[in-house]
Amino acid sequence: MSREKEWIDRLEEEKELKQEEWEALFQYWLDHEDKELLSYVCEKGKRVKEETFGNKVYIRGLIEFTSYCKNDCYYCGLRKSNKEAERYRLDEETILDCCEKGYELGFRTFVLQGGEDFFFTADRIGELVRKIKGKFPDCAVTLSEGERDFDTYKAWFDAGADRYLLRHETADEAHYRLLHPDSLSLENRKECLRNLKKIGYQTGCGIMVGSPGQTARCLAEDMVFMKELHPEMVGLGPFIPQHATPFADQKPGTLEETLFILALVRLMLPKVLLPATTALGTIHPEGRELGILSGANVVMPNLSPSDVRKKYLLYDNKIATGAEAAEALDSLRERMKAIGCEIAVDRGDSPEL
Ligand code: 5AD
Repeated sequence: MSREKEWIDRLEEEKELKQEEWEALFQYWLDHEDKELLSYVCEKGKRVKEETFGNKVYIRGLIEFTSYCKNDCYYCGLRKSNKEAERYRLDEETILDCCEKGYELGFRTFVLQGGEDFFFTADRIGELVRKIKGKFPDCAVTLSEGERDFDTYKAWFDAGADRYLLRHETADEAHYRLLHPDSLSLENRKECLRNLKKIGYQTGCGIMVGSPGQTARCLAEDMVFMKELHPEMVGLGPFIPQHATPFADQKPGTLEETLFILALVRLMLPKVLLPATTALGTIHPEGRELGILSGANVVMPNLSPSDVRKKYLLYDNKIATGAEAAEALDSLRERMKAIGCEIAVDRGDSPEL
């Protein structure tokens, strides 16, 4: 048996590898893109997922409520220097309306995601969370609005927010610098994640696969960081260039590498909630299905009003910018059925709580 397969067997057994082993495994992957090894890992990823979650796939209704952002990350289409981006904010009534429609369709988690937009003050978001939880007490609210201070995160948690998504983007200091302007720091990012955990959120971190400058060593550091943080959720999708950013001409992450890492994360954190992301569905027509078949167990359909969807362009060619939420959900249900999976209608909390 190859050294790489031995590592993967041990990962499944012990749920961890040493940083040097991770690095050598990723280096081997980057050098060979070994398809046989990929199916070896993906099959295990799928099996481990089924042991905890059976054939259930959880859905989260994504509401992209603001496209304003004060940051200038080099990869992101919402960066403040992107003068081409059309900016919008949804008002409270529209957001509640998205939840209402989502609820009728069977969504029991709403994800409020936006750029870092301080128009939405701590109080405004707190009030919004309170209203959503008041109207839909059997639903979970996930926030994803970037870096805020401890007290703000705490206030939102006390208002009823259950989960928070904040991808760390990369755990390697030099790589972090390559992707972000000086105003942002990896140290602060990690501090935010630790605060979220401390407050009691189900917390999600994550990375873009194949982002510019990402090496085997960066990925090894990501795995070690994720093991240590022990997040309840991990978001990972391929990097996809956006034409109006400094990374317009960089090459995208691949389907295969994303599946490889999804499966490895499933083996390392067997109970984690792991979405097959929109970005994965964007680089390949069956990307999300393949993600589910490699160990992912969550999909996040868009509940934003269709007229604003084309304004929330983190990257080029983002899918699902047309279909109404209801149609999109029907088609998703069919697609999941075709691979033997069933969409669950419950909050789908982390099984470790
Ligand atoms: N390609 C893929 N993912 C991206 N994100 C931002 N820009 C891109 C891009 N060009 C991801 C980041 C962020 C999440 C909301 O979207 O990882 O955390």
